[in-house]
Amino acid sequence: MNPFVFHVPTKIAFGEGLASGTADIVKELAGNRALILTDKPLMKTGIVEQILMGFGDMKYVVFDDVPPDSDVDCVNKVADLARAEECDCIVAIGGGSVMDTAKVVNICLTLGGEILEYQGLNNIAEQLLPLVAVPTTAGTGSEVSMVAMVKDRAEGKKLLFGSRYLAPSVAVLDPLLTVSLPPKLTAATGLDALTHAVESYTAVISNSVFTDSLCIDSTKMIFENLRIATNDGGNIEARSQMLVASTMAGVAFTNSGVGVVHALAHSVGAKFGTHHGIANCIFLPHGMQFNMDAVTERYAKLSRLVGMSTSSKDSVAAAELIEAIEKLCTDCGLPRRLRDAGVPELKSDDIEELTFLTGSDPAIMFNPKECSPEDIKGLYERAY
Ligand SMILES: NC(=O)c1ccc[n+]([C@@H]2O[C@H](COP(=O)([O-])OP(=O)(O)OC[C@H]3O[C@@H](n4cnc5c(N)ncnc54)[C@H](O)[C@@H]3O)[C@@H](O)[C@H]2O)c1
Ligand SMILES: [Fe+2]
Repeated sequence: MNPFVFHVPTKIAFGEGLASGTADIVKELAGNRALILTDKPLMKTGIVEQILMGFGDMKYVVFDDVPPDSDVDCVNKVADLARAEECDCIVAIGGGSVMDTAKVVNICLTLGGEILEYQGLNNIAEQLLPLVAVPTTAGTGSEVSMVAMVKDRAEGKKLLFGSRYLAPSVAVLDPLLTVSLPPKLTAATGLDALTHAVESYTAVISNSVFTDSLCIDSTKMIFENLRIATNDGGNIEARSQMLVASTMAGVAFTNSGVGVVHALAHSVGAKFGTHHGIANCIFLPHGMQFNMDAVTERYAKLSRLVGMSTSSKDSVAAAELIEAIEKLCTDCGLPRRLRDAGVPELKSDDIEELTFLTGSDPAIMFNPKECSPEDIKGLYERAY
């Protein structure tokens, strides 16, 4: 067996209605004044209000204006507020945009200085303030991951922060919070989770039985539950399975990395604001096709283990996995081309810029096959 290291720094708690006890978790972490981070659409759902009721007379400050795919300006603004209010812990209630913002705010708040100094991998070397992540989407895995991404709008790119200290202290998984997520976002975020599972399973450092097991089980759970969660949003069992599957895939990818599909999705998200899950669902079959010759056996194994193929021939079983993903996306009403997801016609300058962003995205380091600029251009052309 190959040597490996596996981390799960986050305590993971799951239960229907669990989020209403978030204040008790803050107390356990010795938090006296929490910074509550969320966004406007979530405030309207009543989810945040219900969680805050549990805080009783505990002190807290709310910032509810995190934008989708948050940015450095928002992080600095929130960090100033939290510093002025002397917050000693953070509660993130939302999807990946809110949770990633909370992680980067935590760097500023704990360590001070200029946020850009900490970007990249392993540039944070000490414990940060306690962070409780309460996901309201089932997709990003940010509630357990050791990475965060926020936009540098001036530079037109997404910045990656990666360190084991970024993993939240506690992930509060409450499926009731995901019931209000509309069908399209349910499907798109679910495909983000599936992309984490598939890319982790084939990433260059994925040789751990721990990550493999998480990838296989989460892929199976997503195939079995995403259609139900999308078409019958009130089905709590399907919502539960999706939320847990997404966290499992999050633990997997944060240990093993992702790949070219994420590098493409980050780039198109940075340039055109395409939702991360939507971008992933469009690029996933193309990325898998591109990687096919390097990892046919792995795709075939995954395909059989999750019940998408009975063929003993690897090339057939692997192709059947890609077909099953295409069908899942179509059944869930997801766009299949960039042009159908609001991306304007790609001019040659756009493709050059996107190719550069993709080639320099840290996710590509973990792809099982080298990607030349020509390969990346080809992927954009096919996905458009
Ligand atoms: N750190 C990581 O490990 C990691 C992994 C993958 C993606 N990401 C990042 O996560 C971000 C995307 O996150 P996301 O897909 O969760 O979307 P999001 O957080 O941007 O949310 C999308 C929209 O859904 C709304 N919403 C969220 N939960 C809802 C609910 N329960 N009911 C109604 N509306 C709800 C939000 O208000 C928002 O308008 C991207 O910035 C991406 O880069 C991070
Ligand atoms: Fe992702």
